[in-house]
Formats: sequence, C-alpha cells, structure tokens
Amino acid sequence: MTETLSPADLRGVINLADLEPLARTRMAGPSFDYVAGAAWDEITLRESEEAWRRYRFVPRVLRDVQHVDLSGRFLGRPSSLPIAIAPMAAQAMAHPGAEAEMLRGGAAAGIPFCLSTSSSMTMEDVAAAAPEADRWFQLYAIRDLAYSRTLVQRAEAAGYRAIVLTVDLPVLGFRERDRRSGFALPAMPHMDAQPDAPPTRYGALEHDRGIGLTWDTIAEIRSWSSLPLVLKGVLSADDARIAAGAGVDGIIVSTHGGRQLDRSVSSADVLAEIVGAVDGRCEVWADGGIRRGLDIVAAFALGATGVLVGRPFYWALAAAGAAGVEHAASILRTELDLALALLGCTSMGEVRRDLLHRPR
Ligand code: FNR
Ligand code: LAC
Repeated sequence: MTETLSPADLRGVINLADLEPLARTRMAGPSFDYVAGAAWDEITLRESEEAWRRYRFVPRVLRDVQHVDLSGRFLGRPSSLPIAIAPMAAQAMAHPGAEAEMLRGGAAAGIPFCLSTSSSMTMEDVAAAAPEADRWFQLYAIRDLAYSRTLVQRAEAAGYRAIVLTVDLPVLGFRERDRRSGFALPAMPHMDAQPDAPPTRYGALEHDRGIGLTWDTIAEIRSWSSLPLVLKGVLSADDARIAAGAGVDGIIVSTHGGRQLDRSVSSADVLAEIVGAVDGRCEVWADGGIRRGLDIVAAFALGATGVLVGRPFYWALAAAGAAGVEHAASILRTELDLALALLGCTSMGEVRRDLLHRPR
C-alpha cells in the first residue's frame, strides 16, 4: 500500500472521479475490484451514473442567490448537506481505521454515516470513535431473525439513530470480478458471529436463501426498537406503496450500486414515480451513481429529499482516511452551492420538478 495522502496532496483532488485512481494504488487488486465492481455485465453499474446525467435543467434568473443554504434533513434531523454515507462492507480494506475513520470523516463534514452489518469493526467500537456523530445501522436480516434482533438492540443502545433494512439481497448478485480474482471478504464481526455462518467468500452473506424475509417480517423488525425504520433497495412503485402503507419511515431507491440484479432500472429512472406512489407518507432517498452536485440536484428535482453516496467515499477513505472523506464531502458542497446558485435556488427545498426540461 502507498502512503495515505496528506491534506496538502488532497488539494489536487478536484472532483470525486479523481479519488478512484488514488484508491486503486492503495488497495489490494482483488479488494479494489470488489468495491469498484458489480453484478454480471455491470450494465446497471454503468447506467446508474448515466441516468442522472440524462436530465437537463432550466435555470431561473434574477433571483437573489447571495446566500445559499445547503443543509438537509434526514428523519427530522438536520444535516450540513443532504448527503449520507452509504453502508459499505469491510472498510478495513480501505484504511486500518476502517468504519471508525469513515464515521470521523462524516462527522467532520456534518453528514450521517450508515454502518453496514458487514463492517470490519463492531458497531460499539465504531460509535466510540465519534460518540456525537450522526449514525445509522444497516441491517442484513438474512440468516437468523433472533440474531438480527440482537443487532438492532445493540444499535439502539450504541446510539445509532435509524435502522436501514436492506431488502434487495435475498441472495447475493453474481459478481464475476470476485470469482476471477479469488477475492474473499476479510473478518466481519457482526456477520461472522451469526449462527452457522459459513466460511465462504462472502461469509454469511452467501447463504441458503436465508430466513425468507417478507413484508410480514417488517412489522416484527419495527417492534424490536423505537428507532425509525428505512427500507433500502426499492425500485418498484408498487413496493414503495406497500412500504409506505406498512408505516416505514423511509425508503431508499437503490440498485445496491448495480451489485445485485444487473439490468435493473436505475434509481433515476423510477424515482419520480416512487415519490408519487409514496405521496408524502414517508421519506424517499436515492442512491447509485451520484458523483456530482448536479446529480443531487436532479434527484431532488425528481422528488428525493436526500441522497446516499457510496464508492466515492470508499475511495476517499482509502486515499486519505477521515480527511479524504471530509474532502469528498466538501467537493460535493462546492458543486452543490454553485449548482443551486446557477439554477436560481437558495435551498434544497426550492429544487422542484419545474427545473427539469421536459420531465419524464
Ligand atoms: C455496498 N452496498 C451495500 N449496501 C448495503 O445495504 N449493505 C452493505 O453492506 C453494502 N456493501 C457494499 C459494499 C461496497 C464495496 C459497495 C460499493 C456497496 C451498496 C451501497 O450501500 C450503495 O447502495 C451503493 O454503493 C450506492 O451506489 P454508489 O454511490 O456506490 O454508486
Ligand atoms: C455487497 C454487499 C456486502 O454489495 O452488500 O458487496
């Protein structure tokens, strides 16, 4: 591994795309490919970025944009930006400080961090790294419901403020890069402690179709804690309607970064329809391929009230630890500030559908 970049070196990182080549030289090849890659032909991975970029804006002029407020709100809590760090497995592959370092970077930027069940560190150790930082716990309820319950209760006790239940992983997508490279995930304390966790490439993520999670399980998971429940990985308006009817607090429109069902629609393609189906009954966030402030504007114009960003923060962590994560957030802040001013908006709340040309 190459040395971590210094804060001075970070000045050369102008956009999020600059981070990936820096991470590549600092990570083992198979680990880099696991993170960068996706399922099957990686069609959805590529299209997820492109889908945001297909929208065109119609700016408004002669509006006073001297002061632009970039703050966001997730589940009623303010955030310095409308961006959260997506849950991503095994961050020790990027940095020895792993998820604790990522949380510190998120805290420095004032944005929420979502810890994966497949983390390299326990949720308690991560929380101790930045006790005040806004954090959520992503749950994989895939092997054992009783064990999943203990994870939720530990998360509540450790100050995580939401449960993000990932629902797009009844089985793991077909990851060809990992099969070719022989990649295997490193130790993951929550996952490895699951009853009968198999010693496979992906640990307990590779399983015999798990516990058969269904809509009936949602009410039970809700009852395990007083924390808000957010479903991650919804792409169908019908599912979004069911979720809102089931009383969840939020849904995340997501393709899991193209890592699950290849050739699925992209988040940007279905976001507006899902927002319509939910009709204000819960929050709707989106992720997948968000790389520019303008992508965030597109997501808000389509009705999202928050976005998650994944791989760029992983690359930032690999390149420069918490300082890299903070820097990545600051790039998005700059881009978003300029974008809003050029559109004639002074807050995210003013980003509406009518800023899009011929909205589809
Ligand atoms: C993920 N993602 C993910 N999602 C989840 O719910 N639990 C997890 O453990 C993981 N692990 C994971 C690992 C890696 C290396 C990646 C790249 C992604 C999916 C993630 O939360 C998010 O949905 C996508 O990464 C968003 O897309 P972008 O921003 O990476 O394009
Ligand atoms: C992945 C799992 C860990 O996408 O969510 O690799």
